[in-house]
Amino acid sequence: MYNANAYSAASATSPLAGTTIARRDLTEHDVQIEILFCGICHSDLHSVRNEWSSIMPTVYPIVPGHEIVGRVTKVGSAVTNYQPGGLAAVGCLIDSDGTCPQCKAGLEQFCPSLTLTFNSPDKHLGGVTYGGYSDSIVVDERFVLRVPSNLDLAGAAPLLCAGITTYSPMRHWAVTKDKRVGIVGLGGLGHMGVKFAHALGAHVVVFTTSPNKKEDALRLGANEVVISRNPDEMKKHAGSFDFILDAVSAEHDINAYINLLRRDGNLTLVGAPAKPLGVSAFGLIMGRRSLSGSNIGGIRETQEMLDFCGAHNITADVEVIPIQQVNEAYERLLKADVKYRFSIDMASIKSE
Ligand SMILES: NC(=O)c1ccc[n+]([C@@H]2O[C@H](COP(=O)([O-])OP(=O)(O)OC[C@H]3O[C@@H](n4cnc5c(N)ncnc54)[C@H](OP(=O)(O)O)[C@@H]3O)[C@@H](O)[C@H]2O)c1
Ligand SMILES: [Zn+2]
Ligand SMILES: [Zn+2]
Repeated sequence: MYNANAYSAASATSPLAGTTIARRDLTEHDVQIEILFCGICHSDLHSVRNEWSSIMPTVYPIVPGHEIVGRVTKVGSAVTNYQPGGLAAVGCLIDSDGTCPQCKAGLEQFCPSLTLTFNSPDKHLGGVTYGGYSDSIVVDERFVLRVPSNLDLAGAAPLLCAGITTYSPMRHWAVTKDKRVGIVGLGGLGHMGVKFAHALGAHVVVFTTSPNKKEDALRLGANEVVISRNPDEMKKHAGSFDFILDAVSAEHDINAYINLLRRDGNLTLVGAPAKPLGVSAFGLIMGRRSLSGSNIGGIRETQEMLDFCGAHNITADVEVIPIQQVNEAYERLLKADVKYRFSIDMASIKSE
């Protein structure tokens, strides 16, 4: 074992603060990565504050972070795809059983015994896994991803969660040229959704509660922007969408969006508000519409997404911050005030 620098929270009401954590010695299949950038996902905040306590209670101390890019520092003897000095990335998953039907289908994110990057039982060291708000991590080669060399690293980090979480449902629901696609909530996930839908050739409409994001939405690739608090603007789009991606982190009226779907249209929830959402049966019945969810993506599809981003030169729009500003960043996330993802420059942790 060795010590790594990290930022952790001691309880649901404590701020994140500097600490040291143990990382395992490398097994033959492991890759050790010096973390250069880690994105801040709203799921980090939900977890730090134990907002999902009924589904996945937080074990403290928690070291969040699952949007990791860095440089390989060491590899185990059986590792073939990574060498010291090369770039590597890690997302939300770091292990699974590899044998269940989900894993066999390349959908490790649904494996009943998957290990998440943070707040999951740690099979090697006991306790729980510690995530990317740290300067070093050790991960099994099967869960390490390749970063296209043309991408800016600070902007590439958020692809590992915000990117795959929006890319995967768009592929599953066949977002293609000329489909009408709605994106609800222009945050970290939402802005990646706009970029992917635009790159896939769709007609993209952004629904936002923040009038000041209108210009940005158009620049990111939206064809139209709707201020969702304006009922007249909403009405104009009734019954018109093939697919809507809902990436809102807080309680909101989902029926307003279901009503915007055309016949057989689909609304996929990726946002994960703590409280259940009320769904009107009639919105679904009328028009045979469907409501579904989606959870990140498997390793194979995450690599496909990264390669797609390399080919289309897609990264997240990031505000790069030192780790010392993480608590302030969380407060801004709660106010929907981020353009459009915080990416922590992990060099800052060395100055602690
Ligand atoms: N399914 C998955 O696999 C998965 C993966 C990652 C994250 N998530 C979840 O997805 C959600 C979004 O994550 P994120 O990192 O993109 O968060 P984020 O950057 O904070 O963005 C959330 C956006 O939701 C909108 N919003 C916030 N509060 C709202 C309210 N009260 N009413 C209506 N809209 C509101 C805001 O957009 P506007 O300003 O445009 O209105 C905000 O920018 C979180 O719940 C997160 O846990 C799920
Ligand atoms: Zn995330
Ligand atoms: Zn499995």
